[in-house]
Amino acid sequence: MAMHQLDLPLNNNENANLPSNYRARLIHLLSGDLDFHHKNSRYASHNFHAFPAKFPPQLPGVFIQALTAPGEAVLDPMMGSGTTILEAYLLGRRAVGFDIDPLARLITQVKVTPIDPEKIRAIGNNILTQAHYAVTQNCSELEEQLKHLWDSNTKKFVDYWFAPETQIELLALRNEIEKIEEPDIRAFFEVAFSAIIITKSGGVSLALDLAHTRPHRAKIIVTENNRGKITEVSSGKRFTTKILRSALEEFGKRYLQNLNGLVSSREGQIQPVLKYGNAQKLPLDAESIDLIVTSPPYASNAIDYMRAHKFSLVWLGHNIDELGKKRKQYVGGETTSDFTFEPLPPKTQAIVSNLSAVDSKKGQVLHRYYSEMTRVLREMYRVLKPGKASIVVVGSSIMRGIDTQTHQCLAEIGEAVGFEVPKIGIRNLDRNRRMMPAGTKINLDSQIQQRMHVEYVIGFYKPDHKISGDSK
Ligand SMILES: C[S@@+](CC[C@H](N)C(=O)[O-])C[C@H]1O[C@@H](n2cnc3c(N)ncnc32)[C@H](O)[C@@H]1O
Repeated sequence: MAMHQLDLPLNNNENANLPSNYRARLIHLLSGDLDFHHKNSRYASHNFHAFPAKFPPQLPGVFIQALTAPGEAVLDPMMGSGTTILEAYLLGRRAVGFDIDPLARLITQVKVTPIDPEKIRAIGNNILTQAHYAVTQNCSELEEQLKHLWDSNTKKFVDYWFAPETQIELLALRNEIEKIEEPDIRAFFEVAFSAIIITKSGGVSLALDLAHTRPHRAKIIVTENNRGKITEVSSGKRFTTKILRSALEEFGKRYLQNLNGLVSSREGQIQPVLKYGNAQKLPLDAESIDLIVTSPPYASNAIDYMRAHKFSLVWLGHNIDELGKKRKQYVGGETTSDFTFEPLPPKTQAIVSNLSAVDSKKGQVLHRYYSEMTRVLREMYRVLKPGKASIVVVGSSIMRGIDTQTHQCLAEIGEAVGFEVPKIGIRNLDRNRRMMPAGTKINLDSQIQQRMHVEYVIGFYKPDHKISGDSK
């Protein structure tokens, strides 16, 4: 191979056996084990809040350690719950993150903010005492407040998805959290509050499941006090049964659990810069970033972030109509009116055309996704320094029985905007540990089903023409 890429300093033991040439090192990493099954992913604040399709911390971790030096800039333009950002922060890199989802931004911010645990303990205790008092002594005031808290659409949503007794408890908690003056501490408790609602199984809401595109509501509710009753429910109905837990108790457990994961400020750590922002138009200078590690949404809204996130966002001051408008801006959305499509390279265009032949509306939705990803990849190329890489983790989607071949299409689009794609790595999903869109039963006869249980790790390399015109 021609020696035209930057050689990296071998700065720690972990990197001692890696090739010193940057591009060779990238290929080496993408050829290694990217599954990270049986690895502990719960250290530091990684486990503060559930998040759909969150990747294991080791994934960004290995690329950050091997491809950057301390102090260098690591970007995740669709940061989600901030796995890349937290890893970069813990490793002493300068993390930069964007997301258009308000909850993603809140969770990530809290994960990388050092706070005095004693303050959390004292304030948490006080929140619980005051909320308990309000629920037991001033319940009618809370009921009155609930009547006027939201506009009619938001109220309809809350009444459908939350039992009356849960609403009272959540409001009592929310009232106490709102009184906290220090923004970092208030945000910490908002995340713990949200984490008791947004879980794979719908937390304290009546949703049975928040990992799927369309949540289902429990028809039979069993409160914790009469939990024994669940055995009387016939097996057919078991799937519509939910044990209703106390929001106060769940919050009490959750904030103490999160308190144990709080990051502390250490020498060499740089506070990340996190902003609300669209990955298709980043407010960053050209050639300012040393490494990108990110995972975009699946095509065709396979994971609908806003559908799950609004369950806690309505309690944190957002309203349903405003959230519905925001949802349209997510990459992978389904509306195509007033959308500016991008021309696609040939293989990607062929997949879109095949789908359009079966279902023209779905074809447009897929064209929208690849157009959005064209703009995202163009931005990644612009902000990345020459001779550096962008790691993009994606899964394929099945639309009308057609495999969208997302990894191949994104690789082709990446090449069209100027990247080289030296290697696409494969990782097998540990389905037990992840909030994922598809069912958990694997039909081994179906190639498509098998494909849904792997993800692809695409290595995009931005050639450095100053070092050598030949980048192959
Ligand atoms: C697969 S998730 C990222 C998960 C993340 N890697 C983690 O470990 O938590 C994809 C994220 O893309 C975000 N997103 C969707 N459209 C976006 C856009 N136009 N700009 C920025 N972020 C966007 C979603 O809000 C979601 O948080």
